[in-house]
Amino acid sequence: MFKQLSESEQEFVKELLGKMTLEEKIGQTNQTSLSFAGGFTFTFDDLMKMVEEGKITLDEIRKMTQEAELEYPVDDIRTGLVGSVMARDAKKANELQRIAMEESRLGIPLLIGFDVIHGYYSVYPIALAEAGAFEPELFEETARMAARESRANGIVWHYAPMIDVARDARWGRVSEGPGEDPYLGSVFARAKVRGFQNNRDGSYVAACPKHYIAYGACEGGLDYNTTNVSNSLLYNAYLPPFKAAVEEGAATVMASFNDLNGIPLTVNKFALRQVLKEKLGFSGFVVSDASAIRECVVHGIAADEYDAGVQAINAGVDMDMATDIYKNHLSKAVAEGHTTMEVLDEAVCRILSVKKWLGLFENPYVDEDTANQFETLPDEHIKLALESAQKSIVLLKNENNILPLSKDAKISVVGALASKPEEVVGAWALNWRAKDCVPILDGIKSVGQNVKYFPCCGPQGDVNQDEVDSAIAEGDVIVAVVGETSSMSGESKSRADIGLPGKQKELLEKLIASGKPVVAVLMNGRPLALSWEDQHVPAILECWHLGIQMGNAVASVLFGDHNPGGKLSSTFPRLSGQCPIYYNHPNTGRPGRKIPFTASYIDCGFEPLYPFGYGLSYTEFAYNDFTLASGPDRLTASVKVANTGDRKGSETVQLYMRDVTASIVRPVKELKGFKKICLEPGEEETVVIELFKSDMGFYNDAGEYLLEDGIFHIFMGGNSRDCLMAEVELEF
Ligand code: BGC
Repeated sequence: MFKQLSESEQEFVKELLGKMTLEEKIGQTNQTSLSFAGGFTFTFDDLMKMVEEGKITLDEIRKMTQEAELEYPVDDIRTGLVGSVMARDAKKANELQRIAMEESRLGIPLLIGFDVIHGYYSVYPIALAEAGAFEPELFEETARMAARESRANGIVWHYAPMIDVARDARWGRVSEGPGEDPYLGSVFARAKVRGFQNNRDGSYVAACPKHYIAYGACEGGLDYNTTNVSNSLLYNAYLPPFKAAVEEGAATVMASFNDLNGIPLTVNKFALRQVLKEKLGFSGFVVSDASAIRECVVHGIAADEYDAGVQAINAGVDMDMATDIYKNHLSKAVAEGHTTMEVLDEAVCRILSVKKWLGLFENPYVDEDTANQFETLPDEHIKLALESAQKSIVLLKNENNILPLSKDAKISVVGALASKPEEVVGAWALNWRAKDCVPILDGIKSVGQNVKYFPCCGPQGDVNQDEVDSAIAEGDVIVAVVGETSSMSGESKSRADIGLPGKQKELLEKLIASGKPVVAVLMNGRPLALSWEDQHVPAILECWHLGIQMGNAVASVLFGDHNPGGKLSSTFPRLSGQCPIYYNHPNTGRPGRKIPFTASYIDCGFEPLYPFGYGLSYTEFAYNDFTLASGPDRLTASVKVANTGDRKGSETVQLYMRDVTASIVRPVKELKGFKKICLEPGEEETVVIELFKSDMGFYNDAGEYLLEDGIFHIFMGGNSRDCLMAEVELEF
C-alpha cells in the first residue's frame, strides 16, 4: 500500500526536490495534452467547435484518436517539462521513458497513466455488474489481472477504480462504478486498490479512485451537471468509498468535473484540502480530470486560464491533466505571489513519492517480450474473466422455471446485439481485441445443439418482420438479446428515457404475441425501466456488459451449467421518471403506500421494479430463526438460511440497519454487512454477521461523527426489500 514509503525513500524524494529548478518542478505537475502525428494539436473546445461547424464528425474523431499515432512532446520531456503522459504500448512507453531518464537533466521517470477501468486486454464485467457478485476477493483478483497486463505494457497508473455512488440510472457513468450503495462501494474500492497496488511482484500500479466527489449526484442524471449536496449527505453517502480507498492506501485521486454546491471540484479547497488531504489524511497526489482546469473558466469561477491554474493548485490539485495550464502559467503565478513555492513543492513531493513507490527510478523500462506474451491471453486470465462474468449475472424473473433451457431445445436467438464482439465489452474498455471476445451467440451455439440466429432488431433501426416470423416459426423457445450498445453508457451518455432503446420493445411484443416462451437476455450499462417487460416476458436475465467471456458466461447460465447468484448493485425503477431511486433513502413523514397523500407516484406507485440486492437463483433459499445479540462493542446477527430447492446455489445474505430516531433523518435501511454462501440442495447454514457499534453512527453537517443512543432496527435477508427484522435499544 502506498502509505508505506520508507524513510530512505522519503529522503530520496526530498533530496531530488532540492535539486529541481522551478520549471522542472512545474514539469512534474504537468500531464501533457493530446496531440496527434502531423502536428495536429487541439483542445476539447476546439474539437467540439469543429464538430458543430460540420468540419469533422464524431466518428472521424473516434477513428483518429484510436488509429493515429499520438505525438508526444519529446522536447518538453527532454527539458523536464512533463511529469506524466498517457500511453498504451510497451515500445512507446520505453521510448518515452528513455528520453526522460537519459536525456533530461535529472533523469526523472514519467508516470504513464491510462484508463484501465475494467480490464486491459482481458476485459472483465463493468463495475456495476461485477459489484453484484458481492465478492471482494473477486474484485481484487480482476484488478490484479488488469495490472499484470497493463504494467507489462509500461502503464503504471490506472485511472480507476471509479467509485462514485450513483443513484440516478439516467447518468451514463453508473456503468463505471459499483452502484448506489456506500458500503458496497467501500468494499469494492478497498478490494480494487489492493488488487492494483499490492502486487509487489513488479506488476503493481497506482490506483486513482475517481471522481472525487459527488459526481454521481449530478442533477437530473445529466453528466457534468451541477450538484447540490449537504455536508452530511456528502460524508454519509458519497465520501465512504473514497475514505475506504484512502485508508487502503490509494496512491492518487482524481478530482471530478462537477461543481459541488457552486465550487467545481477542480478548485474546491474544502473538498480537496480540508476533507481529502487533512481529514482523511490522503498522502498521494490529486490529478484534475481531463481539461477540467480550463473548464473552470467555462464554469464561470475563474477569469482566465491563469486564474484557473492558480485556484486549482491552491485548492490542492497536484497534477494538471491535459491543459498545459500549469506548465504555461505557474511560473508567473509563483513570481507574482498568487501561489507559493511551498504549495508547489508539496504537489511535486506527492508526485515524486508515487513515482518512487512505483519503483520507476530503479526500473523505468518494461520487457517488451513480456508484453508480447499477452498476444494470446493466459488461460488463468480467461478463466477469471469467465468466472467474474458468471458471478455478475442476475436472474430477475423466471416464471414457471423456463430457465435453465435444455441443451437440445430448438432455440431461436434474436437481437442484433447477440452477435457483436464490440458489444460484450461495455463502456471504457479501450484495449479489447475482437479475437478475445465471445459474443452471446457464439457462447450459446457452443453449448446448444439446435440454435438458429435471426438478428431481427437492435438498439437502433427497425424490426425486420421476416426475421421475426422465421424466429418464431423455427424456435420452440426464443432467446431475445436486447439492451444497450457499449457506447450508450459511460461518459456523457446520459439518457432521459431509460427504457429499452429503439424498437426493441416492439420486437419483444411481437415475440410474446406468438405465444412461444421468451427469455430476455439484457445487455446494458445501467438499470433500465422495464415495467412492461417484467409484466410480459416470462424470464429475464440481467447480463450487463460482461467482458470478453460474456458469451460463454451467458450460455452457462442459460443452460444451467452455472446457477446464477448475482444481485443488483442498483435499484431498477419502474419508469424513468422515478429516477433518482435508491433503497437507502431518508424516510418521509408519509412513506409511500397504496393510498393517496403518501410519497407515491399516481402512475407507478412508490416501489422500484427490482430492489437493491435483489437476484433470483435456480434454487430457493429460506430465511429463518433470526437472532440478534448485543455485546459490549458489537451486535451479532444470525439467521438460518436453507437451500430448499433441488440445485446447488449461492446466496448473498445481507445485513441492514436503521437508526429509528436520530438528530437528522436517517435512511430507511443501510447495508452494513454481507456474507456469500454456497449451499447444496437441502443444506442449511447459520450465517453470522457482526456489526460494530462504532459503525452505526452518521455524520452531521459539521462533519462530526455521531453515535446516538436509541432504537435500531436490524434486518437480514436476500435483498434490501425482503428481510427479517429485529429491534435493539443501544446506549453508546
Ligand atoms: C474522464 C475520466 C478519465 C479521463 C482520462 C475524462 O474525460 O472523466 O474518467 O479518466 O477522461 O481519459
